[in-house]
Formats: sequence, C-alpha cells, structure tokens
Amino acid sequence: MLGFGFYIFAHLFYFLDIPFLIKFIISIACFALSQCMTSMRYIVAFTPHMSYIALRITGALSAFFMTLVSIIMLYDFFILLFFATRSLLGIETANYLAWLSNGPLTITILSIALFVSYTGCKHALRCPLTVERELLVKNLPQELQGLRIAHLSDLHMGSTFDGKWLSQLVKNTNELQADLILITGDLVDGSPSKIASDVEELKQLSAKYGVHISLGNHEFYCGPKPWIETWTSWGLSVLVNRNVRLEHNGYPFVLSGVADREGRKFKGMLRPDMSEALKDVTDSDFVIFMEHQPKNADKNAKRGVNVQLSGHTHGGQYFLLFPLVKFLNGGHRVGFYYLDDMTLHVSPGTGLWGYAPVRVGSRNELTLLTLANKD
Ligand SMILES: [Fe+2]
Repeated sequence: MLGFGFYIFAHLFYFLDIPFLIKFIISIACFALSQCMTSMRYIVAFTPHMSYIALRITGALSAFFMTLVSIIMLYDFFILLFFATRSLLGIETANYLAWLSNGPLTITILSIALFVSYTGCKHALRCPLTVERELLVKNLPQELQGLRIAHLSDLHMGSTFDGKWLSQLVKNTNELQADLILITGDLVDGSPSKIASDVEELKQLSAKYGVHISLGNHEFYCGPKPWIETWTSWGLSVLVNRNVRLEHNGYPFVLSGVADREGRKFKGMLRPDMSEALKDVTDSDFVIFMEHQPKNADKNAKRGVNVQLSGHTHGGQYFLLFPLVKFLNGGHRVGFYYLDDMTLHVSPGTGLWGYAPVRVGSRNELTLLTLANKD
C-alpha cells in the first residue's frame, strides 16, 4: 500500500512546479491515504462498535485511494500502449515524463477519482435492489419446481450497516413472501454484547419454511458461539455442520449448512465437517446446501448436493479485482455455475465489508431465487 501511495505521489505531484513544502505535505497525505485501507481492516474487525460517521469517512478515503490507483494504472496502461504502437510504427517516441504530473492531468485524474469513488460508495451502501432469478437445476423433482428462496449474504452488520438499513432490508425481504430465507454468512462483525441491538431486526424476518443462517469467516473473528445462541433464542435456525428435513408440496428435501473453513484456524472453534452436515443424507435426497465460501463447490457437487448457495466474494466489488477474486474462490465470483448435477449460486453480497465500501461493476442485491428444471 505504501508503494501505491508513492505511485500516486510520483505520478500526480512530484513533477509539478509547486513549492517544496507543499509537495512534502502532499507526499505525507499520499502515504497516509495509502494506509487508510490497511488500518480500516483492523479498525473494522476489532472495534465494530465505532461510530458510523468515522466508518464512513475512513471508508470513503479508502475508496478514493483505491479508485485513484486504478485510474492511474489504467492511464499508464494506455500511455504505454500508445508509446509501444508509435515505436512499432517507427515514429519518434516523445518523453514519457511529459505525460506525468502536469496541472491539468492531475486535476482531471483527481476529479474522475472523486466522482467514481463517490458514486461507487453510494451504490455500495444503499439498501440492495431486489433481483429475481430462476435457479435452474438438473433433475429437479416436479414438486420442488417454483420453490422460492430469498438468498441474503455478507450483511456485515456492525461494521458497515446499522439497524435502519437492516430494517428496510427486512421489510423488502418479507414483502417477497419467499418459502425460505437463507443467509450464507458474514452476517455480523462484532459480538452480541456490542451490536445485538443493531441486528435484532432479524427477528422480524419470516418465511414459510423459516429463516436459516450459515456461518461465514467473519463470524469466527468475533466468536460464533454467542451468536449461535442469540440467533437460536430469536427463533432463527443456524445450520452449522447439520441439516434439517423440510417438505414442499409434499416432497421432502434436505437443507444443510457447514461451518466456514476459517474455523480451522481458531483453536476450540467450530470446524467445517461435511460428514456431519450431510449426516443421514442418502443419494435419493434432494439437498440444498449453504457454504459461505464457494471454493469447495466442485467437491460438494460430487458429494450429491443439488443446490449450493454461497457468498463471500462480494461480486469482486471493484472491476479490476474481478480476476483475482475469481481465482481466489475456485473460479467462482458471482451468479450461477453448473457443476456436474449441482447448481451453485454465488451472491454478490447483500452488503459488503466497510473498510473499502465501494462497488464499481458489481452491485449488492437481495436475490429471490425460484427453482426451475434445467432439462
Ligand atoms: Fe463478506
């Protein structure tokens, strides 16, 4: 990040004809800006009850930094392409430095970064739009066709969103009158003693076959057990290495969830256990499965899961990060993937993590999935 801070300074300010003292102050500001995102990672994780105003200010600075770096990188890419083309055509190449750090260029890039980060933050932090999609499944039993699932994921309550945001989300979700509400992890940042009042609105969620939660990596940063007790006492079902049997139109199906793989890193925490998650499940059972990270989806398809719902990726959030996010998540970033006989749905996130609350090229959504036959 310090390197990127230097990159911004060198590109936009170093060659400007301004007094040394001002240049020095700007260089300090660039380095401070570069540390915003890094420090936010820790601030958000360990002080989730900090004021939302402070969160928004530091989050906006992180977003601005990220946007600025990406715009400069894109600018450099096209300039280098331009120079390479000229060179190949045998045209004399102008001085590269002449394309850096001139007043109009600096002002233009700063203005674009400000505009993009402002709109990116606004989109990322709004209450999500409701998106209805058909979830196509191979060999779907006739009775399960039309089953409606509201899929929520990565709300990050406590670190990013407050009770007011959740209240609107709960209202929008209930209006869908889904058969099932499934939340695939990263629901909270912070312990129940600190943020339960912001999260309490979840009690109002209702669906014909209940509200079911699986754990994400962030639940492990604040300790999952108190949350499991709290949510259970609120009448919500928490599926951690276990399954329940439900019925739709008289046809039984299995709903299962597994603990997030992050649990393996913490001593005494819940570890993912697939044999417990799929206990007593037979080959003839239709299985809907919740796992926060989509990385293991290929293996789950071979285990006989029919539908997997995941989150974690936040849709990549920022277009330049899409290839990296896809690579880190087993080739799954957002939307539907068809793996053997299983269909995987990766939510782009109903919310996102507040250390860089910006989306460009991806949007948060409340997804209503309707099961339909793929054949
Ligand atoms: Fe998340």
